[in-house]
Amino acid sequence: MKEILDAILAPDSGAADFAALKLPESYRAVTVHKDEAEMFAGIPSRDKDPRKSLHVEQVPLPELGPGEALVAVMASSVNYNSVWTSIFEPVSTFAFLERYGRLSPLAKRHDLPYHVIGSDLAGVVLRTGPGVNKWQPGDRVVAHCLSVELESADGHNDTMLDPEQRIWGFETNFGGLAEIALVKSNQLMPKPAHLSWEEAAAPGLVNSTAYRQLVSRNGAAMKQGDNVLIWGASGGLGSYATQFALAGGATPICVVSSPQKAEICRKMGAEAIIDRTAEDYRFWRDEHTQDPREWKRLGARIRDLTGGEDVDIVFEHPGRETFGASVYVTRKGGTIVTCASTSGYTHEYDNRYLWMSLKRIVGSHFANYREAWEANRLIAKGRIHPTLSRTYTLTDTGQAAYDVHRNLHQGKVGVLALAPQEGMGVTDPELRARHLPAINRFRNA
Ligand SMILES: NC(=O)c1ccc[n+]([C@@H]2O[C@H](COP(=O)([O-])OP(=O)(O)OC[C@H]3O[C@@H](n4cnc5c(N)ncnc54)[C@H](OP(=O)(O)O)[C@@H]3O)[C@@H](O)[C@H]2O)c1
Repeated sequence: MKEILDAILAPDSGAADFAALKLPESYRAVTVHKDEAEMFAGIPSRDKDPRKSLHVEQVPLPELGPGEALVAVMASSVNYNSVWTSIFEPVSTFAFLERYGRLSPLAKRHDLPYHVIGSDLAGVVLRTGPGVNKWQPGDRVVAHCLSVELESADGHNDTMLDPEQRIWGFETNFGGLAEIALVKSNQLMPKPAHLSWEEAAAPGLVNSTAYRQLVSRNGAAMKQGDNVLIWGASGGLGSYATQFALAGGATPICVVSSPQKAEICRKMGAEAIIDRTAEDYRFWRDEHTQDPREWKRLGARIRDLTGGEDVDIVFEHPGRETFGASVYVTRKGGTIVTCASTSGYTHEYDNRYLWMSLKRIVGSHFANYREAWEANRLIAKGRIHPTLSRTYTLTDTGQAAYDVHRNLHQGKVGVLALAPQEGMGVTDPELRARHLPAINRFRNA
């Protein structure tokens, strides 16, 4: 691994140097173990501790197949899917790996008693498999997490609709929280030159998801002037949704849970901010009964902030806790776009407010190839910025996932893999200098 790192750090290493590197037989990776999938049985979700289930260990290097690439990972990040994996909810990810393994002999490689997790990376291509022409050893890349086969026509227009669509590092093995990762070469995109490794690794999954969910025609197709209610506006998804709203001429109404989180939304440029803790919204009277007066109170608060207007779009992901309110506060003809159900996936809402007011609920999931590319392009151009607040070592990934699980973080949490320290990997210092305050906005928040 040392020679790999030396080659990456040497300023004049070329494709031939990387192609000549001997690959190690094993590498360090963050894993969960199949024989521990029941370890939290009977414990409430909140008390399931990722520090107990996430391991950092040596695993064998997987065989490289056609259309694939092995990438030396300089940095990765923690997404909420790593939290789900680590607490084995809503199902153990080994069920995904088993199903994938039944697809083909090549896919069978993924069905192992351990799962190398992680759905983001920034690093350097080490080897490419047969049929890969666009990428070469030595290329500095980030990877998006859409894994598809595209053998069925269903996904030929929108690659998210492929029947074999999977999230790499969640529904496949050999993910990015490791020193080396295996990806399909179509996942690779150029690393934004003005960002450090850990900054470049941070946006990937959430930025692409927020792009499809809010901006793309496949999601809410946000337009100039729209009012957008953004739950968790300083969190992983929300911190990018807020930036997309501002950059696209819309007005974000940011919901957060503390003055610190409100402050960071202000720093991004948002003016309409709701502190849901200070204002003490209680949408549920008890486990079975919602309180429509609380929906109305939220709606009135939104009108206060917008000069009497309702929201055109609600950017939803908390799910059960907020969904009834989200449907209520959306304007006539507006859109509730949802990609998750963090607080529970059985949603309840009063359908009269949906059909009588001609609202739409749109389901959204990650992003297709093109949307992921467009989202990364906006990062590379310095139009949208990483929201990295803190970086951990690979060894401390359990703690990083714990912090995200407990909602102790802001924006995104990074993980250094091979990168010996933060701040390395910048090749366009001029562009960086132009955007430095925005790049650092979330740091140590
Ligand atoms: N389908 C997809 O492709 C996709 C992609 C990415 C993420 N996701 C899912 O989306 C969810 C959020 O991901 P993330 O990366 O944004 O996570 P995150 O960084 O934890 O941010 C979520 C934010 O939502 C807010 N929140 C949490 N529980 C809430 C509740 N009960 N009511 C209101 N607000 C609540 C919190 O903000 P405040 O405390 O400040 O309000 C939190 O910071 C996760 O379930 C994740 O698995 C899905």
